[in-house]
Amino acid sequence: MNKRKWWSWAASGILIMLVSMMAFADTESRDPREAVEAELDKKFQDGRYSRDGSETCLRCHDKDSEIPATGIFDNVHGRLGVSHGPMSDRQCEACHGPLGNHHRNPRGNNAREPMITFGDDSPVPASKQNSVCLSCHQGSAQRNWHSSVHAFEDVSCSSCHKLHQAEDPMFNQATQVETCTGCHSQVKAQLHKRSSHPIRDGVMSCSSCHEPHQSVNEASLKQVDINENCYQCHAEKRGPFLWEHEPVSEDCSYCHNPHGSINSAMLDKRMPQLCQDCHRVPHAQVDIPEGDLRVRGGSCMNCHSQVHGTNHPRGLTLRK
Ligand code: HEC
Ligand code: HEC
Ligand code: HEC
Ligand code: HEC
Ligand code: HEC
Ligand code: HEC
Ligand code: HEC
Ligand code: HEC
Ligand code: HEC
Ligand code: HEC
Repeated sequence: MNKRKWWSWAASGILIMLVSMMAFADTESRDPREAVEAELDKKFQDGRYSRDGSETCLRCHDKDSEIPATGIFDNVHGRLGVSHGPMSDRQCEACHGPLGNHHRNPRGNNAREPMITFGDDSPVPASKQNSVCLSCHQGSAQRNWHSSVHAFEDVSCSSCHKLHQAEDPMFNQATQVETCTGCHSQVKAQLHKRSSHPIRDGVMSCSSCHEPHQSVNEASLKQVDINENCYQCHAEKRGPFLWEHEPVSEDCSYCHNPHGSINSAMLDKRMPQLCQDCHRVPHAQVDIPEGDLRVRGGSCMNCHSQVHGTNHPRGLTLRK
């Protein structure tokens, strides 16, 4: 065999190997999750639940095992005697699906029949994970889940809620904010700016304003729109005022960023740019004397102090 032939044989051999490896890698990377999903679907159809419920599971998942599961007993879902709770139902299998042959391990240690798992790493699609939870939770909060941005974005219930532990992170202000800002990094950055709502100090949390199970309301707020949300705690801004400032009654977020800003009072922009975005200056009618102390700070508020509206009879230009 001459040198050239040898090369071409070797090259085509490698090529065939590469192509078959790529095909293999392709099926490897795509199929396992789908295969697990299909297997779980079948297990559900077969519906072979264990006879002894959690007793069966704890033979292998007690607190000293490799994958302990006793944390559920510190949580409301592990409490006995809660009517409609998992423990008065199919226990572990109410969430993780029927046992089937999971405990028999016929295929060897690392190829156990799968159980339903939860969270971002699970091969079970978020919508199917969530349907497990929604089979019991159809209260007012979850009724509109299916039309929420979170459902649309395939966020799972267990991205926010943790069940195998005593305290669910959503019911503690600090851990809730940490969880939410884990995905919403832009909001996280805003919380650290010069002025913000007292969220980092634990006075408020994201759910003071948001109801993340729905998007019926603007920005998944608890109130129908932004202004109704603000009025909930800043009632004095509601009016009606004799002299309204149009953008205020329309949308507080024209000027404020509720998550925080580099400017004082969470203002979107510095003064006087904030006002100048909508108002042409210098004044058409008013001749502000050059060097007037009130203008020097660049703040329109020195004269127009009642920027949210006023009831003063001569408040037309929001100065009183
Ligand atoms: C005979 C021992 C045994 C019994 C009984 C058993 N499991 Fe498991 N289970 C295991 C082992 C071992 C693993 C880890 C397998 C693996 O990593 O593939 C596991 C994994 C799991 C997982 C995680 C699966 C994953 O893909 O990460 C869940 C959830 C689970 N079991 C739930 C249950 C439930 C619920 C029961 C009772 C209905 C139960 N198991 C009964 C041995 C058992
Ligand atoms: C109300 C639903 C629910 C019940 C009941 C429940 N689990 Fe879980 N389980 C979950 C969720 C959700 C997770 C994901 C972690 C979390 O939320 O803390 C999980 C995680 C697990 C894991 C870890 C799997 C992994 O991905 O590593 C195992 C194992 C497990 N559960 C077994 C059990 C066993 C055994 C029982 C009964 C003693 C049980 N679970 C009861 C919902 C439940
Ligand atoms: C078998 C029915 C059942 C299933 C399945 C179930 N839950 Fe629950 N859940 C309950 C019951 C019952 C309660 C407590 C009753 C109550 O106070 O509303 C509860 C309470 C909760 C609470 C409030 C906890 C608290 O401390 O007040 C959250 C959050 C929750 N469940 C989330 C989930 C999630 C997420 C899943 C799916 C992984 C899930 N549940 C699956 C029945 C269930
Ligand atoms: C984006 C995060 C997030 C997701 C995803 C989420 N929740 Fe919640 N959930 C919360 C927060 C925050 C609260 C607490 C609300 C409050 O403090 O008023 C809560 C409260 C609850 C409660 C107890 C109070 C109530 O309204 O009954 C239940 C039950 C619950 N969620 C179930 C679910 C179920 C089921 C899913 C999935 C379909 C889910 N949650 C998805 C954030 C989330
Ligand atoms: C697992 C990631 C994840 C977690 C955790 C999460 N979110 Fe989201 N959220 C998203 C994605 C993705 C979107 C859609 C894209 C966007 O607006 O950033 C979204 C959208 C939103 C929106 C806009 C919804 C609308 O109706 O316009 C709000 C508000 C929101 N999330 C609040 C929260 C709150 C509050 C929490 C915590 C209780 C939270 N999110 C936790 C991923 C997450
Ligand atoms: C004081 C009320 C309030 C609090 C507290 C609050 N938000 Fe908001 N959030 C709003 C309002 C109002 C909007 C819509 C106006 C806007 O887009 O600026 C909004 C919009 C959003 C949006 C969608 C638009 C965007 O800015 O990306 C996300 C995501 C969001 N909030 C997440 C969070 C998270 C996460 C927390 C907790 C760290 C939180 N919010 C706390 C009032 C609040
Ligand atoms: C759940 C209650 C609550 C809601 C809803 C709320 N706020 Fe606040 N707001 C507060 C609290 C508490 C403070 C801090 C008051 C203090 O420090 O004296 C505050 C402070 C402020 C400040 C002054 C900040 C500073 O640095 O001086 C502004 C501006 C403000 N809020 C605007 C808004 C706007 C705009 C909305 C609607 C998007 C809104 N708030 C919704 C509770 C709320
Ligand atoms: C046209 C811009 C603009 C709009 C729209 C606006 N604000 Fe303001 N807001 C300001 C300015 C400017 C300040 C700073 C006032 C100062 O420095 O004294 C301020 C300050 C505040 C403060 C803290 C000081 C105080 O007066 O209590 C709160 C709270 C507040 N705004 C709430 C609201 C609410 C609620 C809305 C919607 C109903 C709203 N703002 C709409 C410009 C605006
Ligand atoms: C989002 C646009 C917008 C911003 C920002 C804004 N304004 Fe206005 N302003 C208006 C509109 C619209 C009117 C009512 C229409 C008109 O008369 O021009 C108005 C009216 C006024 C009036 C009363 C004029 C009159 O004759 O009734 C004054 C004074 C005023 N604004 C001052 C300010 C100041 C000071 C700021 C900055 C803190 C500001 N505006 C920010 C839109 C805005
Ligand atoms: C030295 C005080 C003073 C300062 C500072 C000032 N204004 Fe005025 N402004 C007035 C007076 C006085 C009037 C009323 C004129 C009238 O009644 O005809 C007025 C009227 C207005 C009006 C309504 C009529 C018009 O000319 O459009 C607007 C809008 C306005 N100012 C915006 C601003 C903005 C924006 C700033 C900051 C860039 C500002 N003003 C700074 C004193 C001031």
